[in-house]
Parts: sequence; structure tokens; C-alpha cells
Amino acid sequence: MNIDSTYFFKIENFLDKDKCESITKKYFDTLEIFGDKITKNSRKGFKELRNAPVFKKEENNILSRLATLLDKDLLLAYSHIIFYEPGAELPKHLDRPHSQYGININVWQTDDMDYPIYLTNPETKETTEIKQNVGDAFIYKACEVPHYRKELTAGNGIQFMVFGVEKGTDYEVFANDNMAINQEWQELTGNKAVDDLFERQKII
Ligand SMILES: [Fe+2]
Repeated sequence: MNIDSTYFFKIENFLDKDKCESITKKYFDTLEIFGDKITKNSRKGFKELRNAPVFKKEENNILSRLATLLDKDLLLAYSHIIFYEPGAELPKHLDRPHSQYGININVWQTDDMDYPIYLTNPETKETTEIKQNVGDAFIYKACEVPHYRKELTAGNGIQFMVFGVEKGTDYEVFANDNMAINQEWQELTGNKAVDDLFERQKII
């Protein structure tokens, strides 16, 4: 699949049931140990662990599968795992430049959860609804594809996400979540990845 022309695509059964269960268990175990102290997301309905050391192996495995699927030389930018509660809403946005190529995997959900994502192709402006069963993933150019979710009204779910940047591009500087703290990357004007993102943000 050529991501540079399609911008996003879905992959069913990216992770098998056992893998999804082991990621889910690690998430709940970690939360039980550290509590809400290590969740970093002030948004209502989101509990997030970012770059959690406990998921190092998963990060690397998933990034290398992503690189193979896209046929690109990727460096890890960051990973996060998010637990969603009713009230969670994701307004339409573009991601920061650390998210050049991303994969989102649904690893767990309650039966009553229905939380599709809507992705807009930046060329055709056509919006596609993506629904994911447990194990399903979608891959997207998160800095170029405006995306949003409506407010979650019932149920809970967990999604694991990994983001990579391509070596030799303007995004490479954002490997290892560089300049993420305090949004320092926003000062990096003159970098084409940043300048282009600011331009795109004006018209979503
Ligand atoms: Fe996003």
C-alpha cells in the first residue's frame, strides 16, 4: 500500500487476541501500580501512558512492522496507550510533527463501545469512517490527515499507538519525542515539516 498517495488505510487483525490481551493486562497492571500519577492527558475521558518503558518491546516490534508495511526507514518518535471513558471526544485536528506515520490498534473494548474515527483525505477532502474490532489497526499520516472522533457515550476501550518519523526527511529531528516537552517544536520555524503543518492547520 502506498501511504503517500492513500494517506491512510485499515488493516484487520493486525494483532492477534493473545497479543491484545497481554498489552491490555500490562496497561491495567501498570495503572494499578502507579495509579493516575503517570497518566498524562488532561482531556476528559482519556487516561494515557506515553512512552511507558513497560511497552518497549511492543513499540519496537510494531514500529518495525510499520516500517516494513510502508517500505520506509522509520525511527521511533513515541508511543502511547489510551484508555477511553464516556465523555471522551477528539475534536478535528492534525497531530504534531512527531506523528509523520502512525499506527493505531484497538487492543480492548467493552461490547457496548462504539467509537469510530473519521479521517479526511487532504486531497479529495473525502471523509472515511473507520471502525475497529479488537486487533484491527489503521495506519495514517497523522500530520496531514485531519481526524476526529465524536463523544464516546458508552463503554470503555484501549488503543495502542506507535508513531515513527522517516530517516532523511524534515521529520527526522522529531525522533525519540525530541522537542515534545512544552511544545518546543513549535519554535522550529524554518523546518519544512513544522511550516507545512502550520499552513495545513489554518484550513482544517
Ligand atoms: Fe491525533
